[in-house]
Amino acid sequence: MAKAKETVSRTLMVALVLSIAFSVVVSTAAVMLRPVQVTNQNLDIRSNMLAAAGMLEPGASTEEIEEAFSRFDVRLVDLDTGEYVEPSEVGVKDAMKYDMYKAASDPERSSSIPSKEDKAGIKRRPNVGKVYVLEEDGELVRVVVPVHGYGLWSTLYGFVSLEGDANTIEGLGFYDHAETPGLGGEVDNPRWKRQWVGKEVYGDEREEPRIQLVKGGVSSDAADREHKVDALSGATLTSRGVENLVNYWMGDRGFAPYLKKLREGEV
Ligand SMILES: Cc1cc2nc3c(=O)[nH]c(=O)nc-3n(C[C@H](O)[C@H](O)[C@H](O)COP(=O)(O)O)c2cc1C
Repeated sequence: MAKAKETVSRTLMVALVLSIAFSVVVSTAAVMLRPVQVTNQNLDIRSNMLAAAGMLEPGASTEEIEEAFSRFDVRLVDLDTGEYVEPSEVGVKDAMKYDMYKAASDPERSSSIPSKEDKAGIKRRPNVGKVYVLEEDGELVRVVVPVHGYGLWSTLYGFVSLEGDANTIEGLGFYDHAETPGLGGEVDNPRWKRQWVGKEVYGDEREEPRIQLVKGGVSSDAADREHKVDALSGATLTSRGVENLVNYWMGDRGFAPYLKKLREGEV
């Protein structure tokens, strides 16, 4: 009778060889797919930014997205001073490579927000933000700024696009959140988003941001309706979150110092 070949050491050896072989396959795939993932993430950010700016046609091809995006200058901004920062100052070769959300979790590159100032519920703020500037013939046409903050269940990430006056909203959109579909998730509803177009962030004195989301809807004769948008029905908490996060990022601790300099032609 043939001697049994199954021994504990053989079984362990087979398991070891197989696990090494599969881990090589998986890590090779991960390394090889990394550039594809990065390209897709970049494309995603670009298309979200363009969507907020109202510059993305439905079904746009990769080339069309790249072409529209290439009209923008990606700039880095010191949020305290509102001045531009060179990419090398934050350790990247080009501004597109800077990740302000990663920076926000690095104590060296961010600061904690005192809770009474933390309208957006984000706890930390990066020192440097990333903006997308579109100029034509030396004139500012639009500037798109990133915004994020807490809703009811999740942090919402998006962009607000402003016209060349760095005050009038041209569009807003969120590309990442986990609010409830049909309730807070209606932040993605194109009809609701359309209301933002033409709203003004600041009053005549360009002081504090004044966006308000109004429960029950904005009446046609409401005072200050240029700053008001209907709250989402059944989603007062998400709506309050959106109001707070927009006002935070348009405020002194967000992009207000930069937008002021931009309006005054100082950057
Ligand atoms: C399952 C479930 C999901 C909900 N999701 C949301 C949400 O995404 N955003 C939100 O503001 N409120 C949500 N709510 C409702 C809130 O608990 C709260 O009732 C609501 O914000 C009040 O808004 P209203 O005053 O407009 O009714 C949800 C409630 C339930 C039961």
